[in-house]
Amino acid sequence: MALTIGVDIGGTKIAAGTVDPEGRILRRAKAPTPRGDGEQLAEAVAGLVRELREGEDAAPAAVGVGTAGFVDETRSRIVLAGNLGLADDPVRDRIARRVDLPVVVENDANAAAWAEFRFGAGRGCRDAVVVTLGTGVGGALIVDGELRRGRFGAAGEIGHYRMVPFGRRCACGNQGCWEQYASGSALVAEARALAAAEPKEAARLLEAAGGDPEAVEGPEVTRAAQEGDPAALRCFAAVGEWVGQGLADLAAILDPECFVVGGGVSAAGEILLEPARAAYARAVTGRATRRLAEIRLAELGGEPAGIIGAADLALR
Ligand code: BGC
Ligand code: NA
Ligand code: ZN
Repeated sequence: MALTIGVDIGGTKIAAGTVDPEGRILRRAKAPTPRGDGEQLAEAVAGLVRELREGEDAAPAAVGVGTAGFVDETRSRIVLAGNLGLADDPVRDRIARRVDLPVVVENDANAAAWAEFRFGAGRGCRDAVVVTLGTGVGGALIVDGELRRGRFGAAGEIGHYRMVPFGRRCACGNQGCWEQYASGSALVAEARALAAAEPKEAARLLEAAGGDPEAVEGPEVTRAAQEGDPAALRCFAAVGEWVGQGLADLAAILDPECFVVGGGVSAAGEILLEPARAAYARAVTGRATRRLAEIRLAELGGEPAGIIGAADLALR
């Protein structure tokens, strides 16, 4: 049985796992993402690979790495990853040199999408747009059952679709990118701003953050929303609205059969999807008469999807 190691490099953490051919994760390891230094990043990935290989006799067949950022068409370089503080970085070779195994690099959202398409919510949906809401907003296009990478590798970089002209600044250098409104970072920014402006309404969020609005973190916003906290629910309503608006635009361009929404923010489930679906239904062109893509929640969970998808893609 050929095992593969899958690695998911996100803006905040690196998650890795040993994966079997059926897409099951057998072992897992994790480390914070070092930002702004390609060598340190490769070292962190190699460290996780070593950790996973400890006590295993057989060498894994390959290491599949899904990373945040535009990945070039040769799938070896990070062209631009604002959230990792990297540009034009030879990530594949840096890692391969350290692990002495074949290494395949893929965009993180592509990897997660591939897992959802093969094993999760996208099963049976041959035209899917998969949206990953994490530190940034990632995307992947499955067209006629195939992952589309575009001519230069950067197809599906929907997080940097310019939703708001002259809007919020993005780490990619542009302004008004969708990910500034619809990501986990946007959710946290919303919660912090609300906690600072309306401490009474946001009492629950503030308390969990030791009274400091800037210490409010995403998982706590999700937990509070799940327990019905009105301030947290407002944050999800705002982000969900932006998500739905963006999906409406994507439907106009791509006309998929389904959208799959994953990533850390999607852990809130219907709390996020309800406002997203409502905004989508209000905004999408031709809504009265056209057939509309369904909006589904990812099934595998943000981190596992990235690991499983990267591992599976490494074998192709
Ligand atoms: C990056 C994408 C990535 C997404 C999620 C975006 O900022 O440009 O490549 O897929 O964040 O990590
Ligand atoms: Na992508
Ligand atoms: Zn951007």
